[in-house]
Amino acid sequence: MKKIAILGFGVVGRGAYETIQARKNAGISVKKVLDVRVPTGYEDVVTTDYQSILSDPEIEIVAEAIGGLHPAYEFLTAAMKAKKSVVTANKHLVCTFFRELHTLAKENGVEFRYTPAVGGGIPWLYNLRRTVRLDEVTSLSGIMNGTTNYILDGMTHKGADFSSALSEAQRLGYAEADPTADIDGLDVRRKCAISASVAFGAVLTEDDVPTFGIRNILKIDTDRFTAMGYVCKLLAKAEKIGDKITAYVEPTLIPKASETAAIGSNFNMISLTAKRVGRLSFIGQGAGKDPTGMALAEDCLDIAEKSAVTETVLGNVEISHELTEHPYYVRTTEALDERVISHRLDGAYITIPLTVSKIHHIMKEIQSNDSAAFVAGITEE
Ligand code: HSE
Repeated sequence: MKKIAILGFGVVGRGAYETIQARKNAGISVKKVLDVRVPTGYEDVVTTDYQSILSDPEIEIVAEAIGGLHPAYEFLTAAMKAKKSVVTANKHLVCTFFRELHTLAKENGVEFRYTPAVGGGIPWLYNLRRTVRLDEVTSLSGIMNGTTNYILDGMTHKGADFSSALSEAQRLGYAEADPTADIDGLDVRRKCAISASVAFGAVLTEDDVPTFGIRNILKIDTDRFTAMGYVCKLLAKAEKIGDKITAYVEPTLIPKASETAAIGSNFNMISLTAKRVGRLSFIGQGAGKDPTGMALAEDCLDIAEKSAVTETVLGNVEISHELTEHPYYVRTTEALDERVISHRLDGAYITIPLTVSKIHHIMKEIQSNDSAAFVAGITEE
């Protein structure tokens, strides 16, 4: 029975703890949980002293669910140096220190896994890492944020308004501590960078992923999309074209009959396309205590069972946001350059196909005068 420590006894940490406690013969057990407070009834397991975990030779795996960059970074690098394998649900940390954490794990001969960091309970990264061992991934795309999917689904199908749907997502434990990371797309941007890095054997940072969020979406937009036969989803996309990569995040109008349009509530759906296996899609709860805690516990169990994934390639690949183009919906009180307008709606425009670089350039100017402007890509897939 391998012993693990869980760092953080919040939503995800408790989810992982309860998952492991419920299956006492599964091959791992929780020896210690680190938190800033020791809750009543947990005096035997919860400690406030990280040194006692680091110096405990019985603890072979450290699972982090604290969130944020610090002290999570210091805790995990210290664990690796103490020859303990590391699992984390922390996408901000993985995205920011991708190369460094992988390199440190290799130097110390330990495992570094982060399946719950993208897609909550979905074994997306686990399977992506399996796929790249023998196949060549050419693209990935999907819904990677439960909070915004919950909000958009509520606005589109349940008559909810933005702020009440967000409050409910917070109450259900889906949203980040600061939900601006969800609604401005920063959470998806990190998940997209991590996924693209794994898929393409590169190291993308969040700055490599141009992003639009859903902060400005209004009921008039979602009602209009419904009338047009579209559903709006916040999508991440990454593609390898030739020897270059593009990756971006944007609210996207997709036909209401498409597979992705049917994904409701806090669910995520993430797909890859690879040369041999074709398209694979993964659907499940992308946020929440039990699904994400389960994924954290599963990574620990995989390490304990020595289920191997190939070493992650940390190559250098050129990134460009001029490789693809598609039309956009732009609602603004500003005038749009005539040359990019395909047709006009009441208070909004549909553009001609534009590159990601071009629409970001346009929206930067528009939003300097109209901070409530909303933009969404339009695709027919
Ligand atoms: N806030 C995130 C979401 C949590 O809503 O998807 C899971 O990463």
